[in-house]
Amino acid sequence: MTKSIANHNLPKPPSGKYPAKDHCRRVAAWIAENGGPSSGVIYLQGQTLKEHEDDDTEQHFRQRRHFYYLTGCELPDCSFAYDIASDTSTLWIPPVDPGYVMWAGMPLLPKEALERYDIDVVLTTDELKSGKAVENMLKKQNETLLVIKDRADLNIFHADSVKHLQPNFDYEWARRSIEQCRVVKDEHEIAMIRHANIVSSYAHQRVQASVSAASNEQELNAVFMLHCHANGCKEMAYGCICAAGTNASTLHYVHNNLPLENKLNMLMDCGAEYNCYCADITRTFPLNGRFTQESRDIYSLVLKMQGECMGMIKAGVMWEDVHMRAHTVAAAGLRELGIFKQNLSVEQILESKVTTRFFPHGLGHYLGMDTHDTGGNANYSDPDPYLAYLRVRGKLPVNSVVTNEPGIYFREFPLRQELKDGKWKEVIDESVLDRYWSVGGVRIEDDVVVKEDGCENLTTVSSKMEDIEALCNGTVEV
Ligand code: GLY
Ligand code: MN
Ligand code: MN
Repeated sequence: MTKSIANHNLPKPPSGKYPAKDHCRRVAAWIAENGGPSSGVIYLQGQTLKEHEDDDTEQHFRQRRHFYYLTGCELPDCSFAYDIASDTSTLWIPPVDPGYVMWAGMPLLPKEALERYDIDVVLTTDELKSGKAVENMLKKQNETLLVIKDRADLNIFHADSVKHLQPNFDYEWARRSIEQCRVVKDEHEIAMIRHANIVSSYAHQRVQASVSAASNEQELNAVFMLHCHANGCKEMAYGCICAAGTNASTLHYVHNNLPLENKLNMLMDCGAEYNCYCADITRTFPLNGRFTQESRDIYSLVLKMQGECMGMIKAGVMWEDVHMRAHTVAAAGLRELGIFKQNLSVEQILESKVTTRFFPHGLGHYLGMDTHDTGGNANYSDPDPYLAYLRVRGKLPVNSVVTNEPGIYFREFPLRQELKDGKWKEVIDESVLDRYWSVGGVRIEDDVVVKEDGCENLTTVSSKMEDIEALCNGTVEV
């Protein structure tokens, strides 16, 4: 084997064309089944490439997800139309700009795009500006044009040359249908999420194996990103959360630059993207290679919460029920540890809603092209504190992909304030709680595919305490 920073023993990335045409058909069928128009043209514009203010360098480019879903096209500055009745898809890509080739190289040509993407016709965007392209797209007066509000420049449809072909703009159905269709993944999409998980899981292992050499959160952040990038995942799915000690009690901690000195545990919530599909993985591990007793107590409890929820996940299960199982396990577990008073029943503890102070977020969310993927139907104004932050509501469909990510956090503010005000005096034993503040927070997060009779865990980095300790203290290598 030649020398390499990449790990060539990882499974190869999946091959095959992105099934864009299937997605178009699926979206058209969803619209018709749900009372929308059964003909018309879906018109979408991809993301444009922008420059930084006062500078001609390019901003980071991220393709629009709804556009990618119907095209599989990762290029900037493209447009797309799908004619529902004739089942024909057209992609417009930027033309060759001879002056720009010197800087950016040759762009993809239409005939290459036809081979790469699952699209019927590929043209260039300069053609789109002519009235002819709009005529070909709409064909008749009052055709329904399904667009996403504020996501496309519609001036081409208002040009003088196409005054005789004014469409009926519909701003509702394209977005609704794509968001709902994206919930249920096909084989190709699951293969992408699986690959993002394989690479991210490997990078998590490398992080744990590096912990004895690290002295700052940013070094572990860098180790994660290095091994993702070297193995083909250049983009992070979201900003890494690399939180040492009590920083882990900040759910979306962003600083990632504080010393590890005098901290007990490290929470790493990091996931890479592969071909626009995300992994979202959290591991918590001891910085000195061995969990303290208090950290073990909390780690075991979170693992139990996750395990019991994992056992419930299958097609048709109500996500609220799975989420509440995590709270029930947390209530019983924190009572057993003495943090909640022993004389209380689990029902009484749940009724007090005190577990929302320790497990404040939802159990998980759909995962796909977005980390917090579409179609979850969250209700952030739900007055029930158990449910307000739950990003998925209702039954999980088969082949949806969801995260299972319970956590227990010791967030000093506002809990200390409430304790001072006497709020939880009937429920919390403060003398026991005081032993746990330095644990910070433990979250364990895996990504699972929902099956008819259960679920499949796509995350391959171990969450067993002994495996994590072995990597961190160097008794095993990656
Ligand atoms: N990484 C953000 C989340 O777990 O939802
Ligand atoms: Mn997540
Ligand atoms: Mn996460």
